[in-house]
Amino acid sequence: MSAHENSTAPKPVISATGLFTPEDSISNRELVDSFNAFVERHNVAHADAIAAGEMEALTPSSVEFIEKASGIKSRHVMNKAPLIDPEIMEPRHEPRGNDELSLMAEIGVAAAREALEKAGRDPADVDAVLCAASNMQRPYPAMAIEIQQALGIDGFAFDMNVACSSATFGIQTAADYVRAGHAKSVLVVSPEITSGHLNWRDRDSHFIFGDVATAVLVEDASIAPPGHWEILGTRLKTVFSNNIRNNFGFLNRAEPETIGSDDKLFVQEGRKVFKEVVPMVAEMIVTEAQRLSIDPARLRRLWLHQANAGMNRLIAQRVLGHEASDDESPTVLDTYGNTSSAGSIIAFHLNHEDLEAGDTGLICSFGAGYSAGAVFVRRSA
Ligand code: COA
Repeated sequence: MSAHENSTAPKPVISATGLFTPEDSISNRELVDSFNAFVERHNVAHADAIAAGEMEALTPSSVEFIEKASGIKSRHVMNKAPLIDPEIMEPRHEPRGNDELSLMAEIGVAAAREALEKAGRDPADVDAVLCAASNMQRPYPAMAIEIQQALGIDGFAFDMNVACSSATFGIQTAADYVRAGHAKSVLVVSPEITSGHLNWRDRDSHFIFGDVATAVLVEDASIAPPGHWEILGTRLKTVFSNNIRNNFGFLNRAEPETIGSDDKLFVQEGRKVFKEVVPMVAEMIVTEAQRLSIDPARLRRLWLHQANAGMNRLIAQRVLGHEASDDESPTVLDTYGNTSSAGSIIAFHLNHEDLEAGDTGLICSFGAGYSAGAVFVRRSA
């Protein structure tokens, strides 16, 4: 051991993860049928304006395009019926009073409970909760504090939003708290109700997102259960881009004439995102692996962000040096869609039990901002 290494220094690890999957699921067929019914009704209702050249006819969507362009076959959602009703195509949820648990907190708590149970951790022994997600149900009180209270955790909690990279940024933040001795046990909870920011009437993006919640329990190795995942190193990166944007915000009421316009929901230039993010992420992973003296070609598994199967194929190829098998780079976007920050955590949650002590892998997210986060992990005995 070198002079500056200290075997008693706190070491952050992932003790366990949790996942909440909504029961409702929408197949591409159901989604496209609903979208195309909306298009047909719209074009009939505006037939005269379209014929006079005053309005453009809307174009139908297709199952084949969605599957080929994205790899998505279905997505889970909190409440399916209104989303695929051509007369609504927006989320609808029963209103809840201030004395009831919010929807986001409810699904976050469900995922967190699974992580706590898997780790055998009593909530009373957790020190902090980060609610790391792309969209918050309200500005305050923080969703994280509501989750903290529901779980009976004594400590501190706050919300953080780095869009699709919220969970990996949350893991690094939690790991830093552990390293600094501010906390021994931190829950990073990512409830993603993306159906709320998706424009279900936009042909270019109506198929992209799904709802879910994940939780990651980051702890000091000294209290972690056997088979935990040592966090070998993390790297975060942000580069400003307008190619994925959502202008919803508290100052919208200062421009009342634009409230409810399409830019107050998710919009993107998908092709530009694809082209710009693939090299940025591949380079970040390889550089960080080198810094950690990890040979990227020997990474046993990549748990990549789940936005587009083609992007993941290219990134995995650049990192591993060969076309990745499903075993090396598992896909969950086929049945979950893009679940924003939760995607790479779902991939990890559902595909890590078979790895052995000493196996090294990578959790990696990327998306709006642009933002990207890499978390290198190694399974312990
Ligand atoms: N059904 C049928 N055709 C469609 C369609 C739909 N729902 N949506 C678009 N098309 C058509 C377009 O009109 C275009 O037709 P044209 O070639 O005749 O002009 C063609 O399909 C290609 O459109 P494009 O938008 O360029 O598709 P793409 O191949 O780039 O795929 C995405 C779209 C969104 C799947 C892809 O760009 C992507 O996933 N990018 C990365 C996005 C990402 O990671 N975002 C992070 C979000 S958090």
